[in-house]
Amino acid sequence: MQNNLSVIVLDKNENSREVIKGYLQDIGFISDVKLFDDYLKGYEEIKAAGDNCIVLMDISSEEDEDVRNIAEKIKLCTPRLVISSSDYSTNTIIKALRAGAKEFLPKPILKEDLIRVLSQMASINPEQEFSQAKIITVYSNKGGIGKTTIAVNLASELAKVTKVKVALVDLNLQLGDVSTFLNLNPTFDVNYVIKNMLDKEEDVFLKAFEKYKETSLYVLSDPSYIEQSGSMTPQMITNLFKALRKVFTYIVVDMSSNIDANSLKILDCSDWIIFTTIVNIPAIRNAQRCLNLFRSRKYPGDKVKIIINRYMDNDEIKVDDIENTLGEKIYWKIPNNYFTIMEALNKGNTVAEINASSNVANSFREFASKVSDDIIEQEVIQYRV
Ligand SMILES: Nc1ncnc2c1ncn2[C@@H]1O[C@H](COP(=O)(O)OP(=O)(O)O)[C@@H](O)[C@H]1O
Ligand SMILES: [Mg+2]
Repeated sequence: MQNNLSVIVLDKNENSREVIKGYLQDIGFISDVKLFDDYLKGYEEIKAAGDNCIVLMDISSEEDEDVRNIAEKIKLCTPRLVISSSDYSTNTIIKALRAGAKEFLPKPILKEDLIRVLSQMASINPEQEFSQAKIITVYSNKGGIGKTTIAVNLASELAKVTKVKVALVDLNLQLGDVSTFLNLNPTFDVNYVIKNMLDKEEDVFLKAFEKYKETSLYVLSDPSYIEQSGSMTPQMITNLFKALRKVFTYIVVDMSSNIDANSLKILDCSDWIIFTTIVNIPAIRNAQRCLNLFRSRKYPGDKVKIIINRYMDNDEIKVDDIENTLGEKIYWKIPNNYFTIMEALNKGNTVAEINASSNVANSFREFASKVSDDIIEQEVIQYRV
């Protein structure tokens, strides 16, 4: 636990500022308390204190946009951000966590809650502090199912919907084609980044990625030469994920359909597996085998999400049949749309850029919103328990 921490309180309500100050007297690990009703002035103080401060920000009367903006800045200075509000509906808690708060406190704040939460903040080691990043891997044990199409469009929609930094990482080390799907000419590749960039500061590390147009999507491509792919090890994958988690909120991974030591490492380390299948008997049989593998690895129940790609309403096999066969619920269906998908692929664009109102573009947008909402919801549930 760190000592000599300062607490910086951003709160428009004078009474509440004073109450908090009163609660914080004589707490061993806190060296001083500074109160601000002007959040920008408070931010200057936070910048100066860096990760030696805990920020307690009240958002009871703040606009959502302002909360996001200031939290984004604070997070660059310190991971120790606590948000409070007199509105403690699930929506507000989600908003706070989404903005990057480590904890949420309902108002009026109780002394024992405040001390408990501040002790937690003091135990955070900023050196080891990773954001609430999630690794979302798109996988199928069959090729040509649509993994890359889904990884690319899910990642770009996640960036659009959430506005936070999203990485799209091509770990299909021999046949990667993410850069082709997005018409990028990357300067660096995964191998180079693993060997040379993992210990770099955030701004240098980010330069290894291709930023996709004016979005918050950052792409890391596979090595250009097949010979280089053989040098990857499971330990390198662990190291890469650790570095990615520090910088990005969502990390979408595309990978090959092989099962080997590297792919098992990727799957084990992922928070979510978007397990993709299509509607035909051989694909579903394969899916069954793969789900058995996941069960044998004791993945938690909510880690694997089953997606049907190229879905058609008039398919002979119905969703119910698939759910009965697999013994699992289908999480999402992406419609079949040969022309939009092919045009996107040929032009090196996302499907939304080709036709934003097409059924597949709509499906990817709603899919990304659902993924981000469900991830946040998981956090809230953990938080409430
Ligand atoms: N929803 C879809 N509708 C129509 N065609 C699709 C759809 N998803 C993928 N495809 C096509 O299927 C083929 C394989 O997709 P790809 O993403 O490369 O699969 P994988 O990465 O699993 O090998 C590509 O030609 C792609 O255009
Ligand atoms: Mg692929």
